[in-house]
Amino acid sequence: MKRVFGTLFVAGFICCMTLMIAGTAQAAAELEGLNLEKKQLVVHRGYTKAAKSCIECHSQKTPGIIENWKNGKMGHATVSCYDCHVVEKDSPMASQCEGLRGTNIYTSPMVSSKTCSKCHPREVEQFLTSAHARLAGNPLLENKKMMALMYHNEGAGFLGVEEGSPANRASRASGCQMCHGTQVELGADNKPINETWPGGVGTRYPDGSIGTCTVCHTRHQFAVSEARKPEACASCHLGPDHPNIEIYEESKHGQIYNAHGEKWNFEAAPDTWEPGDYDAPTCAVCHMSGIGELTTTHNITERLKWNLVHKRSEIRSKERGDGVKGDILMRKVCKNCHSTLHTNATMDTLDNAVALYNVYWDKAVAMKKELASKGLLKEDAWKDGFQELMYYLWHHTGRRARQGAAMNGPDYAHWHGFFQIFQVVKDMEDIYKYRLEKGKIEELSTVMNGGPV
Ligand code: HEC
Ligand code: HEC
Ligand code: HEC
Ligand code: HEC
Ligand code: HEC
Ligand code: HEC
Ligand code: HEC
Ligand code: HEC
Repeated sequence: MKRVFGTLFVAGFICCMTLMIAGTAQAAAELEGLNLEKKQLVVHRGYTKAAKSCIECHSQKTPGIIENWKNGKMGHATVSCYDCHVVEKDSPMASQCEGLRGTNIYTSPMVSSKTCSKCHPREVEQFLTSAHARLAGNPLLENKKMMALMYHNEGAGFLGVEEGSPANRASRASGCQMCHGTQVELGADNKPINETWPGGVGTRYPDGSIGTCTVCHTRHQFAVSEARKPEACASCHLGPDHPNIEIYEESKHGQIYNAHGEKWNFEAAPDTWEPGDYDAPTCAVCHMSGIGELTTTHNITERLKWNLVHKRSEIRSKERGDGVKGDILMRKVCKNCHSTLHTNATMDTLDNAVALYNVYWDKAVAMKKELASKGLLKEDAWKDGFQELMYYLWHHTGRRARQGAAMNGPDYAHWHGFFQIFQVVKDMEDIYKYRLEKGKIEELSTVMNGGPV
């Protein structure tokens, strides 16, 4: 929505007209193209014969997909099954769906960001430079420590479950990979094999392409209005280790979204979605959407200063972005609705919370170093109370404190955050002193899964 007062009414009027025209045209197209009464689709124009055949047969075989697609803007713009699922015969992902056997049309159930880039190159380019792309897949595919966590520990390798067996992989397949993504592997029929597809945001495809665009605007509606709501992020950004949706819910911004959100306009065109369409920011407003002088970005790393997920928070650089620039951009977001005074007070408090957390972390590192030099650490960190607590320090309580401070969730900053941090560090201090005094490691883990989970 435009913010200049004089043009508000006129702009609003023109906007309504366009909506009405678009609405009527859309309804007409729907009535003409889709014979809804018979619960069967008969498409008269706008599609080639082959593209039509997908829709007609799939309206019988997978009606849910057709219904979703039909309701989306791309469906209305006649971007169809054919545009996204038909591939060249020599594509590494080419196979044939049941209804196409014996024809010369090849399809793939896998659709990566590369397919979208045919028509949305800018969004894909931005996405690929963000941590939602390659970095999201790294922990599952390139990090040896994580392999040990996923297979030896969570997959019960230590209880004798065969490494690489379906049961061994089940924890990763049902958990990590649905958020992070994985490498898709193909079977003899060139279709993806179990436990490798579907996957999360950083999924890597057999043709080398990266990224599942539909984690935020889900298939087959692909609605921008959905991606603008906090629920779009909540399927991954939640829980004890990155409670972003919980923090949002308890923030004033979340309070306002919950109180008035249903009246907001989530349909505005890209880069015209502005305060007035909404009263308080959603995740997308702060991290992605165009607002004021900022334009929409699919690079969620761009507006960040700190790396709040990691053991020690530093100002971002290199593959983690540009923290100095990120800070400037994020403050610009706030200033659309807050004074400079308010923005600086809040954002400076985040810097101080990071500094405080880092003090705790540095203390833990110093203690660990000394214990290590005296041979007073167990090899298996998960059977060693000191190391278990150290994990919870940064991965759970420490992230909650920092992210609570970043996104204005006082309960997470405090009760789930700093309040637990000081206790964890005091317990670590006790174990540390005990080991130094006795010159040995206590026999049983003193944590025994009683950590601040
Ligand atoms: C704008 C692109 C796009 C269009 C148009 C599209 N799809 Fe998809 N489709 C996707 C994406 C993305 C996925 C998820 C692929 C992945 O995770 O690798 C998908 C997945 C699927 C799947 C496999 C998942 C499941 O739930 O079984 C089927 C089947 C499918 N689409 C059928 C269709 C049909 C039928 C149409 C036509 C009405 C269609 N698609 C139109 C992008 C598209
Ligand atoms: C004559 C019916 C028919 C036609 C025509 C047809 N399909 Fe299918 N398609 C099916 C059936 C049946 C399935 C399997 C559904 C299931 O697994 O339950 C399927 C499955 C799929 C899948 C899921 C992956 C797979 O290989 O099983 C995709 C993607 C797909 N079709 C896309 C298309 C596209 C794109 C077209 C048009 C070029 C098309 N289909 C035309 C009947 C058809
Ligand atoms: C063949 C070209 C084409 C391909 C391929 C394509 N799109 Fe689109 N897309 C369009 C067009 C055209 C529109 C504009 C529709 C409109 O606003 O009327 C659009 C609009 C959109 C929108 C905005 C919808 C809204 O609610 O305003 C999203 C989101 C989107 N596409 C995502 C995707 C994703 C994700 C993929 C890949 C899985 C993809 N597109 C592949 C052509 C394409
Ligand atoms: C519910 C979705 C979800 C599940 C399940 C999940 N993660 Fe994550 N993970 C995330 C999100 C979201 C972040 C980013 C959090 C942030 O930046 O605050 C993340 C961050 C990470 C990071 C830090 C990323 C970096 O670039 O340094 C690692 C490592 C990681 N996860 C590994 C794993 C592993 C391994 C598993 C399974 C054993 C797993 N995750 C399960 C959602 C998930
Ligand atoms: C992290 C969530 C998320 C992911 C992943 C995502 N999008 Fe979006 N997308 C959004 C949001 C939020 C908007 C609306 C931005 C705004 O307010 O204008 C959007 C808007 C769009 C639009 C409308 C035009 C625009 O730029 O605003 C297109 C097209 C689009 N996305 C395509 C894609 C494609 C292609 C991918 C995969 C590379 C993708 N999206 C991945 C959240 C996402
Ligand atoms: C399918 C799961 C998924 C969804 C949905 C999702 N994310 Fe993420 N997000 C992740 C993962 C995984 C990471 C960690 C990437 C890494 O390893 O560094 C992440 C990281 C981030 C980061 C930190 C980036 C960085 O550079 O460290 C931000 C900010 C973020 N996401 C914002 C969002 C927003 C906003 C939305 C919704 C519009 C969203 N995400 C939706 C999985 C998801
Ligand atoms: C009022 C604006 C605002 C809203 C709303 C908001 N965030 Fe944030 N977010 C921030 C700020 C500020 C930071 C810290 C930036 C920095 O690094 O200095 C942050 C940090 C993050 C991070 C941590 C990235 C890292 O360093 O590891 C993730 C992940 C994230 N936000 C996801 C979300 C999700 C998901 C939502 C919605 C549930 C959301 N944010 C809502 C402003 C916001
Ligand atoms: C779309 C407008 C909008 C944006 C953008 C926005 N806020 Fe807010 N914010 C509000 C509103 C409205 C309130 C509720 C004020 C009240 O409690 O009466 C609020 C409340 C707050 C509060 C609670 C304290 C208070 O003032 O009562 C904090 C802290 C805050 N915002 C910080 C930020 C930060 C930091 C950013 C940028 C990263 C930001 N906001 C971006 C609209 C916005």
